[in-house]
Amino acid sequence: MNIPSKVRLIDVGPRDGLQNEKQPVPAAVKIELVHRLQAAGLKEIEVTSYVSPKWVPQMADNHEVMAGMTRQAGVRYSVLTPNLKGYEAAVADRPDEIVVFGAASEAFSQKNINCSIAESIERFAPVVAAAKAAGIAVRGAMSCTVGCPYEGEIAPSRVEYLAGLMKGIGVERVDVADTIGVGTPRKVQAAFEATLRHFGVDQVSGHFHDTYGQALSNTLAALELGVWNFQSSVSGLGGCPYAKGATGNVATEDVVFLLHGMGIETGIDLDRLVDAGQYISEQLGRANGSRVARALLAKRASA
Ligand code: HMG
Ligand code: MG
Repeated sequence: MNIPSKVRLIDVGPRDGLQNEKQPVPAAVKIELVHRLQAAGLKEIEVTSYVSPKWVPQMADNHEVMAGMTRQAGVRYSVLTPNLKGYEAAVADRPDEIVVFGAASEAFSQKNINCSIAESIERFAPVVAAAKAAGIAVRGAMSCTVGCPYEGEIAPSRVEYLAGLMKGIGVERVDVADTIGVGTPRKVQAAFEATLRHFGVDQVSGHFHDTYGQALSNTLAALELGVWNFQSSVSGLGGCPYAKGATGNVATEDVVFLLHGMGIETGIDLDRLVDAGQYISEQLGRANGSRVARALLAKRASA
């Protein structure tokens, strides 16, 4: 086993976490969340997306959020850009990294971004080229790498195909996403093995929604392959509007507790992270979705 000694977490809470909220979340609250995440030691934050406001109204304040936040040196701020229109809007806000997002499932590609996998790659190619020419890093998210809400189980060969297409257009690193949280360790490892045929282990990350409670097991399974980049969402916020019933990403607090318990460094201050998660949970008027946060808050209250 090559379990890494350090892990880099990307908190996707401000984007994946909030995109599905029905009530508008004020830009000031999103900005405060970004500030609290960086204060807790997060070095990568997925801030927002430049998608159609008709499709995802919650992300319509992308400019306001990006312009309003105070950047901290050494933190990478990433944003989602599905096409050139999105990229051109994003570039004005100086992201450090843009994310093109495709799917291993044809049906999900159609529902999420209104085009086939092949068409999505045609749309992404000029975005990737423009970003690289401008010195902006490029990540590719790969949805439905183990299961799809419309097509069911997804074969690793589909993941390998998509990863190859992403590599072919110059994407620098990719997220292996379990969009609906149906993955279990061996299936998730198969999706990574398929991806690793095109990308090195330093260029892949795990993005696990926790719908079926498997995300921490899947994190451990990915760690066993040497994967050391993961995405998670503070207090377990979120879900994709085009994956009905899927819950949020695994909570960052829960992943940090797992990693620190295994002696793996993250650079994250768990107490401050719990505060960030509690802040956004209170703003949304909702119970904190992180079990670790709930346990630590109960301990604080009884101290
Ligand atoms: P479309 O309708 O095919 O696009 O949508 P179009 O080019 O035909 O344009 C139609 C309208 O959208 C036009 O406006 C365009 O200007 C506008 P109208 O003339 O009707 O007023 N438009 C845009 N507006 C703002 N920003 C843009 C943009 N592009 C076109 N970039 C599109 C295609 C991709 C835009 C649409 O399908 C869309 O916005 N989808 C939303 C996808 C999304 O945000 N999904 C959630 C994020 S992905 C995710 O959560 C999964 C992930 O977490 C990994 C995992 O867990 O699996 C990453
Ligand atoms: Mg997601």
